[in-house]
Amino acid sequence: MGYKEVYSAWQADPDKFWMQAAEKIDWDSKPSKALFDGDAPFFEWFSDGMVNTCWNAVDRHVEAGRGDQIAIMHESPITHSTKGITYRELQTRVASLAGALKMRGVEKGDRVIIYMPMIPEALEAMLACARIGAVHSVVFGGFAANELAVRIDDCTPKAIIAASCGLEPGRVVHYKPLLDEAIELATHKPEFCVIFQREQEVAKLIEGRDFSWHGFQYGVKPAECVPVEGNHPAYILYTSGTTGQPKGVVRHTGGHLVALQWSMNNIYKIEEGDRFWAASDVGWVVGHSYICYGPLIAGATTVVFEGKPIGTPHPGVFWRIIQNNRIKSFFTAPTALRAIKREDPTGEWIKRYKLHDLQALFLAGERADPDTVEWAQKHLNVPVVDHWWQTETGWAIAANPIGIEELPTKVGSPSVPMPGYDVQVLDEGGHPLPPGELGAITIKLPLPPGTLPTLWNAEDRFKKSYLEHFPGYYETGDAGYIDEDGYLYIMARTDDVINVAGHRLSTGAMEEVLAGHPDVAECAVIGVADDLKGQSPMGFLCLNSGCNRPEAEIVQECVKRVRDKIGPVAAFKLACIVDRLPKTRSGKILRATMVKIADGQDWKMPATIDDPAILDEITQALKVLGYPKA
Ligand code: COA
Ligand code: AMP
Repeated sequence: MGYKEVYSAWQADPDKFWMQAAEKIDWDSKPSKALFDGDAPFFEWFSDGMVNTCWNAVDRHVEAGRGDQIAIMHESPITHSTKGITYRELQTRVASLAGALKMRGVEKGDRVIIYMPMIPEALEAMLACARIGAVHSVVFGGFAANELAVRIDDCTPKAIIAASCGLEPGRVVHYKPLLDEAIELATHKPEFCVIFQREQEVAKLIEGRDFSWHGFQYGVKPAECVPVEGNHPAYILYTSGTTGQPKGVVRHTGGHLVALQWSMNNIYKIEEGDRFWAASDVGWVVGHSYICYGPLIAGATTVVFEGKPIGTPHPGVFWRIIQNNRIKSFFTAPTALRAIKREDPTGEWIKRYKLHDLQALFLAGERADPDTVEWAQKHLNVPVVDHWWQTETGWAIAANPIGIEELPTKVGSPSVPMPGYDVQVLDEGGHPLPPGELGAITIKLPLPPGTLPTLWNAEDRFKKSYLEHFPGYYETGDAGYIDEDGYLYIMARTDDVINVAGHRLSTGAMEEVLAGHPDVAECAVIGVADDLKGQSPMGFLCLNSGCNRPEAEIVQECVKRVRDKIGPVAAFKLACIVDRLPKTRSGKILRATMVKIADGQDWKMPATIDDPAILDEITQALKVLGYPKA
């Protein structure tokens, strides 16, 4: 069957389609049907089945005789080490950690925060939670203590599993002091913490609260897999919304398993025994779906990469790892390729490695610019598959499903909708737009298995953020169009979310932090175009009247403040002081116009502007910062 037949089969009978897909999962008790729609607009999948994620990701492969296959390959150019863990070893290690968590009282439904760098133990911690039905929430290491504290208060974990440190080029990230500070800041206190001590930095443990990873597991009884309901939360993953309070995306167990298994086979063309690598971080959704769960559920080998695309030690590191691990499908963000392309424009580093096994390169996380796609296609000589998805969906909304059929690609488009997704472009009034016309990209409800059923502790916010604007549809927050051939084009966000180096960040959250500076009366943050990172945040600060402190000092304090409160990953480095912000007569800040001026695009004076002269001032301030760039 080709793509069209598969998509039509789903359209004709979605329940049959997903029940068939569910056959690839080992259920303790099979679900009676796929969709549970009794509580629309809330939808659930496979709710009455009983299943365990860890069993499907680990144990079943050992049972099937593949215990000696490498499950996780740790490639850490930053520590100069390479280490493989077989499925059998993974089973032993995960069962032991799960047993220790259980002995300390962690039960099905309890939350556990995981705050770890790119080491196999991060995946082991996730799987150990899954084994006993605990709900993990992984927090990205590039966030500051305050962000961790916000997540601790929202998901109220019984335990936190962390590492002593992370390693960035030329810098040790001191996880333990950040963790201690976060617990101090948070109102909720975890009962205990488990710390994986890395040799690069041994952390001081707090007696009675902290246990070392190995000591914690000493002499414990390994835990068996606990079957959970199909609609039991597998995890919560926080992502940026329009405010400083992140959204806790919930993932249910049954749909997660079915969707990831389907996507591994049909999108990434990966089967048992194959080797797959997603160069992202466990703190992001790509890391959840395609470093940890997807490849392991499919019985493939996954790579945990601790390094950067360049500088660790050279721009050939990706190709070396693909060669040495005989990777078949590779997934990265366009920004990583842009970084490599900048240092290796003619692909000399690519030529040094044998990439015979590579069948395709997958890109996601941000818009894949045509230059980068063409560069990769030319030098790698494999299909470059741009695919589009979000933390909320957990797997691709649109892709070129090379496991079914390699469709012709169109540069600038992440190709076509996957089964389960009825993608529609709507105008402001909610009417479908004809091909080629730009509008809000929506998905007709229900969303398919594996996507978010709701937000943790925030059902109203779930409805308000995604379901209210276009009743009957899920609002993606992206704008774009569909062409005559059904190919999607993703052009921009419709909200205050920006994308910096493939990382999703909220300008609203940064504004909240800046507004907290004692000298700042008002501020605006926008995302300006950046050759490497796609976008960079830029802040405009209006000071309290009477403030006569040196402006440079205040700007410096504000930059530091965002780094300290949100984290280095925000990469907030550009800010300037202005007298006033451009606003509409009703007081809305004209951020979109500011972006256009900064990016050197054509712009029109908004009819609703309160005082046009302010835009001259903004233009001057941008000039001083070097914008628009030549
Ligand atoms: N823990 C702690 N700090 C982290 C971190 C982590 N896991 N990840 C990033 N940071 C820090 C960096 O050290 C850097 O700090 P600095 O300001 O002190 O230099 C800051 O956050 C910004 O990091 P980054 O976005 O990585 O920028 P960079 O300039 O160091 O590197 C690239 C540029 C393009 C090489 C890098 O952004 C990259 O590899 N991008 C790909 C990201 C990706 O795969 N995203 C996919 C998500 S699906
Ligand atoms: P995240 O939730 O961090 O995965 O970010 C999701 C957002 O990133 C999407 O809503 C898009 O705005 C953007 N995005 C992800 N993949 C793509 C893509 N292939 N093309 C364009 N934008 C993308």
